[in-house]
Amino acid sequence: MSTTALEAAEELEARQIGQLEEQFIQRSQLYHLADGVLQPTNRPPGVRVLMKEDPRLPAMPKAPTLIDFFKLRFSAGQQHLLQSARLARNNGLPDKMVLACLLHDIAVIGFIRAEHGYWGAQLLEPYVDEEVSWAIRMHQVMKFFPDEAIGYEYPQAYVQMFGADFEPEPYAVAEYERARDHKWYLSARIICLNDEYSFDPGMHLEIEEFEDVIGRHFKQPKEGLGNDNSPSAHMWRTLRRPCSAL
Ligand SMILES: [Fe+2]
Ligand SMILES: [Fe+2]
Repeated sequence: MSTTALEAAEELEARQIGQLEEQFIQRSQLYHLADGVLQPTNRPPGVRVLMKEDPRLPAMPKAPTLIDFFKLRFSAGQQHLLQSARLARNNGLPDKMVLACLLHDIAVIGFIRAEHGYWGAQLLEPYVDEEVSWAIRMHQVMKFFPDEAIGYEYPQAYVQMFGADFEPEPYAVAEYERARDHKWYLSARIICLNDEYSFDPGMHLEIEEFEDVIGRHFKQPKEGLGNDNSPSAHMWRTLRRPCSAL
């Protein structure tokens, strides 16, 4: 074998070993669908799948708290939540409603954007008052329906984002009609009214500002979110390790 052929063979062998050590990132179908892709690339033969913690993401403590998720998993979009919660507090709302505003878009900043009210409510249900998770579930649909009697107008931002001719589908209309008759209708409306759109790019709030409210109204499990066998523990584990099969 010539020197060049030998070098090429060694390089191939090194590449194969490297590939074996490399780990395949097995993404959920949801990631691919969001890119308009139905059939993702298959795992190359002989390559292992990344399991457990993802070294590309910030390491999390063994027993993570809600604040750890804000700091280590949630996007910079959390400023929207922090500013909404500050607005709710400045408006003199009770702690429970400040918490609802603080967490209302938790699915958007950390989990799944589509149907975010429902995903967020499910994620939070074991840890917050039922009224808080109900309000978070319903705010998504209610944002599309003005209620002038309480001073809620259709958001101008929605006209820009979705077009002036956007019409909610029948399931959303039916959901809104059910919500209208519910005893916590106004709680979900409080989220709509304190949903802060006017971002001040110079204002950077920290989650610690709401540590007191979280401490009083979020039932933080001592084992850590994801380790506590609650009905949504698997969702917190998914957030922690989005590509791990176990
Ligand atoms: Fe929302
Ligand atoms: Fe929002």
